[in-house]
Amino acid sequence: MAQLWGGRFTKETDKLVYNFNASIGFDQKFYKQDIEGSIAHVTMLGKQGILTEEEANQIIDCLCKICADVENGELEIRDTYEDIHSFVEATLIDRLGDVGKKLHTGRSRNDQVALDMRLYTRLQVLETDELLKELLETILHIMEEHVDTIMPGFTHLQKAQPITLAHHMGAYFEMFKRDRQRMHDIYERMNYCPLGSGALAGTTYPLDREMTAQLLGFYGPTLNSMDGVSDRDYLIEFLSAASTIMMHLSRFSEEVIIWNSNEYQFVEIDDAYSTGSSIMPQKKNPDIAELVRGKTGRVYGALMSLLTTMKGIPLAYNKDMQEDKELSFDAMDTVKGCISLFNGMLATMKFNKERMYASANGGFTNATDAADYLVNHGVPFRDAHGIIGRLVLYCIEQNKAIDELSLAELKAISPVFEEDLFEAVSMETCVSKRLTIGAPGQDAMKQVIEYARAYLSEE
Ligand code: ARG
Repeated sequence: MAQLWGGRFTKETDKLVYNFNASIGFDQKFYKQDIEGSIAHVTMLGKQGILTEEEANQIIDCLCKICADVENGELEIRDTYEDIHSFVEATLIDRLGDVGKKLHTGRSRNDQVALDMRLYTRLQVLETDELLKELLETILHIMEEHVDTIMPGFTHLQKAQPITLAHHMGAYFEMFKRDRQRMHDIYERMNYCPLGSGALAGTTYPLDREMTAQLLGFYGPTLNSMDGVSDRDYLIEFLSAASTIMMHLSRFSEEVIIWNSNEYQFVEIDDAYSTGSSIMPQKKNPDIAELVRGKTGRVYGALMSLLTTMKGIPLAYNKDMQEDKELSFDAMDTVKGCISLFNGMLATMKFNKERMYASANGGFTNATDAADYLVNHGVPFRDAHGIIGRLVLYCIEQNKAIDELSLAELKAISPVFEEDLFEAVSMETCVSKRLTIGAPGQDAMKQVIEYARAYLSEE
């Protein structure tokens, strides 16, 4: 048990209390950010003459060495320290002696941890964005390949109207594009540096907060020191955006699971992304999609947990805020892992065009277009709806699709039908005539694909 604050205490901390209070078990995850922040702080202290240049340089060199030693395994982060901040500072003092004791001048662990968490989250925002971009590339590739691949579109999980696979994928493209935009928004709002906020009320040392902000890649310093140490909004925003990503991935997973089922067989998940059963030799299960769907709950949980933790905290720092870490770290790793595994599964998935076409063709997905045919021949829409309803009923009784009926059978239901009905209700016509922007018609789809290409090549 090694502490930075023994001076005013007359007794040792109870062992259970120490363990309950300690965070080193999880905050060591941002040791790099902690050292990076300390280096910026000391560089600034040296420039401001608060430490001599020589002292500053000695500390910086030693911090760099500590970082390298942790990285290559020579220095083990031991849980005899309360948190990562204590570990780094104690190691520095151990190696440098009295000069090391000057590192914490003009700083509190409150602004230090606020900085570390922000730096770590900022990195997660960038990494998540990059993974989303890779996923969008995969989706766009499928869109480009499948502009003519006809499949049924569903509402209520009932076949509704014919669409294309490109169109279906395009919906997910839009969702994950918005998820990227959310990452960008979070970055813009969060990229201000809390270092220099002190414990809560700034400090009397002449710190140059602009300088540390700039050294650490921030737009500038935060403008209220109480808010600086106690703001976790950016983390809540990240968890909220991460929850939305998981919700999108979960919906997509659900579709993959349905499409991969024996009944549908719209897709085949690659062997590398499927698993078998220990008892049923014939099985090939979509476990990855199921796990992604299942892990959504943990990310939602992290969001709810942090919102609840934060709701009762008076200004400024309170120890409750230490609870911002474990679930957030888990959510960050989960969302990144899920995006990249889902991407791998999608990129290797085979689409069964024939099954999709047959499914669209056999399910009266052209009933709306048949009604529209009557409307184009002067029948009011409500009457046309009724006529096609009767037509569908007749088809079900005869076990036939609309275009499998003879003209005589059609005319028995409405004399308005002519030979050109067959062309008007073919799957190809139903799709290609839907040409408003955003619709599945090939020309509209190609336009949207062009926009998507341009968007992905922007950066
Ligand atoms: N481990 C603490 C946390 O995660 C660091 C800040 C401690 N500050 C304090 N005043 N006890 O929040």
